Amino acid sequence: TPVAVRKICCIGAGYVGGPTCAVIALKCPHIQVTIVDLNQSRVDAWNSPDFKLPIYEPGLEDVVRQARGKNLFFSTDVDKGIREADLIFVSVNTPTKKSGVGAGFAADLNYVELATRRIAAVATSSKIVVEKSTVPCRTAESMRTILEANSKNGCRFDILSNPEFLAEGTAIKDLFSPDRVLIGSLQTPEGISACKSLADVYGNWVPQDRVLTVGLWSSELSKLAANAMLAQRISSINALSAICEATGANIDEVAFAVGKDSRVGPKFLKASVGFGGSCFQKDILNLVYLSESLHLPEVAAYWRQVVEMNEYQKRRFSKRVVDTLFNTITGKRIAVLGFAFKADTGDTRESASISLIRDFQSEKAYVNVYDPQVEHSQIWMDLSEASPSMSLDQIKKQVTICPSAMDACKNAEAVVIATEWKEFNNVDWEAIYAGMNKPAFVFDGRLLVDAEKLRKIGFQVTTIGRGERL
Ligand code: UDX
Ligand code: UDX
Ligand code: ADP
Repeated sequence: TPVAVRKICCIGAGYVGGPTCAVIALKCPHIQVTIVDLNQSRVDAWNSPDFKLPIYEPGLEDVVRQARGKNLFFSTDVDKGIREADLIFVSVNTPTKKSGVGAGFAADLNYVELATRRIAAVATSSKIVVEKSTVPCRTAESMRTILEANSKNGCRFDILSNPEFLAEGTAIKDLFSPDRVLIGSLQTPEGISACKSLADVYGNWVPQDRVLTVGLWSSELSKLAANAMLAQRISSINALSAICEATGANIDEVAFAVGKDSRVGPKFLKASVGFGGSCFQKDILNLVYLSESLHLPEVAAYWRQVVEMNEYQKRRFSKRVVDTLFNTITGKRIAVLGFAFKADTGDTRESASISLIRDFQSEKAYVNVYDPQVEHSQIWMDLSEASPSMSLDQIKKQVTICPSAMDACKNAEAVVIATEWKEFNNVDWEAIYAGMNKPAFVFDGRLLVDAEKLRKIGFQVTTIGRGERL
């Protein structure tokens, strides 16, 4: 019979583990949830008395306020967390490898392996171990081998795959009412029983028909496939946006018309300056690596093209800025509005802004950047990493972080909208226009602003996916 889960430990208090397990605690008051992390300052932030949490996510603070100290705890005592739990989520980071075999493509599984070995080393009773981090196919198998080879007498480990589909910025909403919860297990009696234990946890708030149970490998592959297909939609629409710009068609009209086909559907068809985020590129590169390892080069090339189209879209956009500003931006001031990879998050991983600013820097422009959420230290870190040949002092001579959109646009030649923050729509564009050099240009990389309204004020407006002659 399935174990009734009483205590959950989550290893990794990041973007995935933190919100996911906070919501589990809120929805399951009878389960004690402890989130552990090696990073002391991250844990301190989760525990901070004034709720200055380490990640910004609408609704998250409210969830933590309700559950923290009751049945939700944050700690750096990883071993204690492991020992006490019946069920352990492994939710550590799996970045793309920077060196060694598969560098630039394969996921770095070092953190997953270390966490798994820790579980084997300190557990004194049986555990259900759940891989939550997005991992390449067959990782569960490796985890199982490590756990079984190191288990003590009487300890059983059952491995489940339970990928997380939440999107940043809507994490709490996605967790409260997920499209689906996917649980993969071995199709043995023990595997199916462990699967039932976890399904019962979600059963506290997720309707039964949304909890899908499948084999371990299907579960692992479904996560990569879901992200690859979402990213592919964006690359497809962005490829079409290039045709629109060259012909005078309008990508919004095209996307709307295409999305009306119920077989295609209307969502996730918004042309942009390029997708970012910690998942899309990483997971596709992972799929590319997997395909190559399986001797499927045509499949690898197909998915690789989705990432290449995204790189092209970013390059194409910064080139359009330079071309429009009379083929040179040397010494000109460009205001970049938005640094996060999308609105409603402070996360900058793989953000298109990073590539744009790097391109503007190499054209010797001055850049003013403003983002309502991103920490300044994060911006400096990202820009340094993007231009390894430059010192931070050199970068700071060219780039200024501004306290508001209005400040960023002061004395600029052009405004580039890189993140779709709502407030960029509501700024006083008349006042911005008054403070800029003329002719004043706006480049909307997010189909955010009303181009006609801005043209009436006097701006020269360039919109992604719209031909110049419109
Ligand atoms: C994504 C998946 O949506 C989520 O299910 C998975 O668990 C993790 O990866 P996330 O990266 O948080 O989530 O954000 P998402 O909303 O998917 O956006 C990713 C990028 O695509 C952003 O840069 C966004 O601006 C861009 N995007 C999205 C577009 O350019 N156009 C669209 O139509 C949608
Ligand atoms: C298609 C479009 O559906 C239609 O809107 C357009 O006007 C003309 O082209 P059609 O070619 O008649 O219509 O057939 P469709 O049902 O779209 O199938 C096309 C091919 O895709 C078929 O060979 C079908 O077997 C295949 N297919 C379709 C799949 O392999 N998998 C699917 O999930 C759907
Ligand atoms: P994700 O976006 O996948 O949630 P993050 O980088 O935001 O990734 O979070 C992963 C967290 O996992 C980090 O805070 C990191 O300190 C933590 N972590 C990594 N390895 C271990 C480990 N062995 N034990 C505990 N925590 C770990």
